[in-house]
Amino acid sequence: MNSIQKTLRSLPSLEGPLPEFNIEKTPNNPIDLFVDWLTFALENEIKEPHAMTLSTVDSEGQPDARVLILKNVDDHGWYFASSSNSQKGWQLEQNSKAALTFYWSQIGRQIRIKGNVMGLGKTESRQDFLHRSIGARAASLIGNQSKPLKDSDDFNLALKKQIKRLNLEPDQVSPYWTLYRLEAMQVEFWQGHPERNHTRLLYRFHQNSWQKSLLWP
Ligand SMILES: Cc1cc2nc3c(=O)[nH]c(=O)nc-3n(C[C@H](O)[C@H](O)[C@H](O)COP(=O)(O)O)c2cc1C
Repeated sequence: MNSIQKTLRSLPSLEGPLPEFNIEKTPNNPIDLFVDWLTFALENEIKEPHAMTLSTVDSEGQPDARVLILKNVDDHGWYFASSSNSQKGWQLEQNSKAALTFYWSQIGRQIRIKGNVMGLGKTESRQDFLHRSIGARAASLIGNQSKPLKDSDDFNLALKKQIKRLNLEPDQVSPYWTLYRLEAMQVEFWQGHPERNHTRLLYRFHQNSWQKSLLWP
């Protein structure tokens, strides 16, 4: 066994203490349970609980995944924002099927969401864009996300130029910036247990209502 393998095998996971997951008391709707779990994560000062992995599929059927920020959640679904002129943007345009994954290690909780993504309109996307920091807006205004970068100086120069532009014209909005919403078909809540008797609760949207079932861990 090499040293990195030894190190990895010695690392603890799901050490606990971890919270209880009382499946008897779960709501009928996974969005309500998601908000309960997110609230619990915030109360327990979990770092960046709004960071989530978005998985998409490219034109060759190859899955692709990256971390994004959750912007909102409501009765319609989970919201995130990005450039439509990026790898994920092109992938979502061709195939709206996607998944979101949250993992909050300090409380041993994972949430997996599968569904379809739609891009929202100009007004919602513009509002999201204008709420971002000047640096984030400037980076988006460059508009080259996911394209090959020859020299990092090229990016720094372009960023400076866009910051200057935003200082003069603060209402500038990237035409590609899009607020997306994932509408879920399936949501799984996973509560880890130090003794490995984990709990998995699956919600599936079937015939116009949410159905709950347990899964073997
Ligand atoms: C914590 C964290 C938050 C991020 N939030 C966003 C985000 O909200 N929107 C976004 O477009 N990229 C975000 N990124 C960058 C993406 O992970 C990714 O690098 C970028 O969107 C390009 O992805 P693509 O080439 O698959 O389109 C974030 C990365 C991290 C690590």
